[in-house]
Amino acid sequence: MRLLVTGGAGFIGANFVRQTLQTRPDARITVLDKLTYAGNRASLEGLDVDLVVGDVADAALVDKLVSGADTVVHFAAESHNDNSLHDPSPFIQTNLVGTFALLEAVRKHGVRLHHVSTDEVYGDLELDDPAKFTEQTPYNPSSPYSATKAGSDLLVRAWARSFGVRATLSNCSNNYGPYQHIEKFIPRQITNLLTGRRPALYGAGLNVRDWIHVDDHNTGVWAVLDAGELGRTYLIGADGELDNLTVMRMILEQMGHGPDEFDHVTDRAGHDLRYAIDAAPLRAELGWAPDYGDFAAGLAATIDWYRDNTAWWAADKERVEARYAEQGQA
Ligand code: NAD
Ligand code: DAU
Repeated sequence: MRLLVTGGAGFIGANFVRQTLQTRPDARITVLDKLTYAGNRASLEGLDVDLVVGDVADAALVDKLVSGADTVVHFAAESHNDNSLHDPSPFIQTNLVGTFALLEAVRKHGVRLHHVSTDEVYGDLELDDPAKFTEQTPYNPSSPYSATKAGSDLLVRAWARSFGVRATLSNCSNNYGPYQHIEKFIPRQITNLLTGRRPALYGAGLNVRDWIHVDDHNTGVWAVLDAGELGRTYLIGADGELDNLTVMRMILEQMGHGPDEFDHVTDRAGHDLRYAIDAAPLRAELGWAPDYGDFAAGLAATIDWYRDNTAWWAADKERVEARYAEQGQA
């Protein structure tokens, strides 16, 4: 199988490449990645992959790479909500124009596409709402990031229906694990503590996220690639709802700090309250189940990974925190 993985030097993409090389020895992988601030060549170090440094919105390059692939797995995106609130333009370019370029190429060459997306396209839920997001939940994105992801999903659905592009989609909840950029909630707090900074909680920290280990997300992507129905959307989630204050206190406790050794900082504008995924169709129809049942154990392993891999993240820490300080979020 000749796989083209866009965004394969990012958090989830790099973990996908690692998992695939271990579980699918026949896979030959080409990664297309622009190596933005979020992409890291070191995440693919020692792996048998071809890394092409380029832009998913570069139609000529994408056409050439897609023509040599059987399957494309599309992770490349601008992925951070906070950044999208300060400069939406790269989100429009990569998430929308980039997905369009890819769709035109897979359409021309008849190549199978899996589009990786987010539960944020559905907006948010009330804290006391028993409902979870399903494939039928109407799209209602809140931020420029989630709006561009929603737009990219709709492009994929339209290309599947109108042009017969062989595409599937998945919308997953919040991932955690190794190789996640330190701008994101969990690695930011871990690396703050490792560098003597105080962790930063937005607002009161009551917002709920539905955590899933990145390896479980990627086994879900493979379940859809192997047996998913073309044109269909699958939700991926592992029943991991926790509020941010709880996660913050778990990190503090696991790293030997007191429960109040953090700061409340300016809340995110338009901050989604709660995400929750109903992954019943993925479980029942495709036989998928998560391997990481215990969030506390997964979190402890993630903390160990950041402690053991300082060289992977330390060079970017000052810049990330200076940016948060400018935004009043440090
Ligand atoms: P990330 O920011 O860690 O990685 C994104 C990667 O895409 C980086 O390597 C970056 O260099 C690359 N990239 C950015 N713009 C590009 C361009 N124009 N051309 C080529 N490459 C480009 O993101 P992530 O957390 O790994 O997310 C991957 C995908 O999964 C995204 O589509 C995101 O929307 C989706 N997703 C993420 C989560 C999560 O919790 N992180 C959950 C659900 C879905
Ligand atoms: O739900 C899937 C989405 O999860 C993905 O589509 C996004 O790409 C991914 O970044 C993530 O989005 P969130 O906005 O939920 O993740 P983030 O790590 O930025 O924040 C998680 C929660 O923690 C959120 O409620 C905001 C809060 N937060 C975040 C940071 C960076 C803090 O309280 N303090 C922080 O310093």
